[in-house]
Amino acid sequence: MSVDLFKQINKVKDKNNMTVLEKKHEPIIECPDEIKHNEPFEVKISWGKEVAHPNEPAHFIEWVELCTEDHLFLGRVDFTPIVCTGPVTFTLKLPHVTKLIAQLRCNLHGIWESSKDIKVVD
Ligand SMILES: [Fe+2]
Repeated sequence: MSVDLFKQINKVKDKNNMTVLEKKHEPIIECPDEIKHNEPFEVKISWGKEVAHPNEPAHFIEWVELCTEDHLFLGRVDFTPIVCTGPVTFTLKLPHVTKLIAQLRCNLHGIWESSKDIKVVD
């Protein structure tokens, strides 16, 4: 375990050259690129698509959170190892968001964050 991982919010450094650690922990945000003003839409958060993250008591994803870039908290899901994990899907209805930010926390590798720009149209 690297203590440094717990001193920061970890992000993928180079999308085209990801480390195994990054592939296991990067939150993957899937939602439309364009949404309509105040119309519900779904956002799916997953991780470990290419390299699966463990889900056992000694090493697991503890929670995932979704917020906007202006710090509006949208939702959070906590997991119990072995019996529960993601992906998770949130249903949102937002008036004016331009960027979604997903964070998850691994009990061994700290907090990981990614973001996705979305365009709100009328
Ligand atoms: Fe981990």
